[in-house]
Amino acid sequence: MNNFIFENGTKVYFGKRCVQEFLPHLVQKYGKTVMLAYGGGSIQKNGIYEEVTELLQKAGKEIVEFSGIMANPTYKKVLEGAKLAKEKDVSLILAVGGGSVMDCCKAISLAARCEEDVWERFWAKSGVIDFEPLPLGVIVTVAGTGSEMNGGAVITNEALKIKTGKDYPQCNAQFALMDPTYTFSVPKKQMISGSFDILSHIMETYFSEPDEDNVSDDISEALMKNVIKNLRTAIVNPEDYTARSNLMWDSTMAENRIIKLGKKMDFECHQIEHQLGAYTNCNHGCGLAVIHPVYYRHICQSGLEKFARFARNVWGISAEGKTKEELAIAGIEALADFIKEIGLPTTLRELGMKDKSMLEEIANSCNLSLGSYKKMTHEEILEILNECF
Ligand code: NZQ
Ligand code: ZN
Repeated sequence: MNNFIFENGTKVYFGKRCVQEFLPHLVQKYGKTVMLAYGGGSIQKNGIYEEVTELLQKAGKEIVEFSGIMANPTYKKVLEGAKLAKEKDVSLILAVGGGSVMDCCKAISLAARCEEDVWERFWAKSGVIDFEPLPLGVIVTVAGTGSEMNGGAVITNEALKIKTGKDYPQCNAQFALMDPTYTFSVPKKQMISGSFDILSHIMETYFSEPDEDNVSDDISEALMKNVIKNLRTAIVNPEDYTARSNLMWDSTMAENRIIKLGKKMDFECHQIEHQLGAYTNCNHGCGLAVIHPVYYRHICQSGLEKFARFARNVWGISAEGKTKEELAIAGIEALADFIKEIGLPTTLRELGMKDKSMLEEIANSCNLSLGSYKKMTHEEILEILNECF
């Protein structure tokens, strides 16, 4: 294994009714004004908004609302939130939603305490946070990104056409409340694409060196099988508590740094998806579903041993009568079949792209991963995107 230092600053409260039980106590240690941040209004339809505002009011808090955080949150929205937080002298940001709301609020927590342009300082390049960000707590309403237990925030700068993420430990939420029943109302398509995002995070970590025996890879295999099994159950019965609670915790486990320890990590599919998102505003998990099988067919020869192991241990494919290469390819095709089975898009056309005119710009603006089994070039990414089309 490679060397590592591990820390995670987020305290997690998980399970049915955890919000009612813990939120009132958790907010006590902060000042009077809480900024309640949320997305496009799903929490007003499913009752979460009412529940949370009532709890905050009973705890004696003044609520400043910040709503309308969009999927693929923009830097403009970050600045709007930071301005409000400063004007109202907010002492805690409470993000209620999915990755988009949580990520936007992490960036707000920096921008509210920093006079400089935080995009330039912290997203255009890696910066050093030498001040205390505004405290953040999160209530998760959809599983997928794992943003609740890391410092990662993916922000889209529309003017520059760049969607990029950085992970700063100081941006970890101080607490995360995760009630799986809150995810029951998530539309099926979003549940499936969020679950594919979980699978993607695990695969992006698993398919990277080191490949000799290591606990991260063993945990990753268990997590991948758990996501596949519980997603199949949740598709049939979205209110299966066991399935939804497994998916919710899988999502956190995939991105709370534990499986990344000692691993190089690839994340090239994420790099490609982020630029696809910057140009087309596509759904994150759907974009990843299109890219993964095509990318893996490209890098398979350089990681044959691991792709063969993936086929055997994750998809249960027998090695009998197959060469290592045939086995490796069978694993990738099993992944592609699973994507079809769960109804995610398999081409850029299905994602809504009309022609190939943007592909070159998207390919050229992608970051090249340092952890891929195969050294990527912008030309090869363009080939991949063409095949995805
Ligand atoms: O906006 P509202 O009305 O709340 O609706 C949302 C949104 O339309 C809806 N939703 C959420 N909870 C719901 C619900 N609908 C009904 N009932 C509920 N309980 O779901 C839709 C999607 O929400 P969003 O937050 O956009 O999804 P997700 O969690 O997939 O987040 C995606 C964003 O996170 C970034 C992605 O790139 C994308 O910008 N990522 C963040 C990462 C991180 N911080 O570690 C890692 C990821 O790889 C990813 O890049
Ligand atoms: Zn992701």
